[in-house]
Amino acid sequence: MVTMDARCPKCHKIATFSGKPGERIKVTCPECGNWGWVTFNGSTSDRETAIEVSHLKKIYGELAAVNDISFSVRKGEIFAFLGPNGAGKTTTVEMIESIRQPTTGDIKILGEDIQMSFDKVKEKIGVLPQEFLSFERLTVQETLVYFSNLFQRHANIDSIIVSMDLKTSENMLYKNLSGGLKQRVGVAIALVNDPDIVFLDEPTTGLDPKARREVWEVIAGLRKRGKTVFLTTHYMEEAEYLADHIAIIHKGKIIAEGSLDELISRYGDESILRVKNCKSKGTIDILRSHGFEVKTEGNGNIAVRIDYKERVLEILSILKHECVDYDTIDIRRSNLEEIFLKLTGARLSEGAT
Ligand SMILES: Nc1ncnc2c1ncn2[C@@H]1O[C@H](COP(=O)(O)OP(=O)(O)O)[C@@H](O)[C@H]1O
Ligand SMILES: [Mg+2]
Repeated sequence: MVTMDARCPKCHKIATFSGKPGERIKVTCPECGNWGWVTFNGSTSDRETAIEVSHLKKIYGELAAVNDISFSVRKGEIFAFLGPNGAGKTTTVEMIESIRQPTTGDIKILGEDIQMSFDKVKEKIGVLPQEFLSFERLTVQETLVYFSNLFQRHANIDSIIVSMDLKTSENMLYKNLSGGLKQRVGVAIALVNDPDIVFLDEPTTGLDPKARREVWEVIAGLRKRGKTVFLTTHYMEEAEYLADHIAIIHKGKIIAEGSLDELISRYGDESILRVKNCKSKGTIDILRSHGFEVKTEGNGNIAVRIDYKERVLEILSILKHECVDYDTIDIRRSNLEEIFLKLTGARLSEGAT
């Protein structure tokens, strides 16, 4: 066990916590009740780390497409590399897959330096490239057999077909599949060698919302089967829905990293509880007398700032106790789009430049 001091970002009180080296745990500030995450010092062992990237750079002429980034991906997690078009996601993921050569930097996969021993690692990874296309005139089944023959390690193709929900399409030609089915075939190809780590570069770009959801379920299923997933995306909903850990990349740099809750508590604004169409006079004064920061909005709604989540119940109990009459209540917290905007001044959906 190791101990470490952490300063509460809210009340600035320093508290001491203990845990295992490299462990990340959720903690509550003993002073104000604000919660957050702390990661204990000490290297995570190779047993826990799937990918370790150190000081990775890729320079194209004048452009630092990837500019000195370091991060690690834990085994069994879905790691989302989130950033707008042109941020450097594909360049990074293709350096990890050994398709592109880094200008400088080190990459380890499952403890192996890929410069030295990529052949060993190759059998343990599966790849869905960006804008993936397969052979038009092969059926789904034939496609998977073809790709499976490129590897020494083999997964059972029938069980991949079932788990990707492709059974009813297995004899269809690739060219006749919908966009969503083509992407599912792409994920299926990435699984033919029963990899430990699956790289998915923008797996849902261009899909309609229903097909996107279906691909999300397939990706969530990979985690259930113990795979490590490295996902790149420019859709914040995708990262919010799927990822255990998110690294936000902008202009070749990682500008923020953590779980969704960590990112929101570190960079987001406090959550707001909104009382809609409040008909009871004096509600604002009552809430203020309990120490809440309250504003009225243009439409007459009352917005109460929630500084930590335990206070939601307190607000509800005040409203009930004072017999406050209102239509509805909703609670809103920051999302990744707002965090990205705050950190960069740009929108995730826009280009990086
Ligand atoms: N082969 C290349 N030669 C020159 N510039 C490149 C090359 N590949 C990518 N880039 C540039 O590097 C930046 C990052 O690209 P990329 O990694 O494809 O971003 P993303 O995948 O996040 O959209 C972009 O500005 C892109 O134009
Ligand atoms: Mg890309």
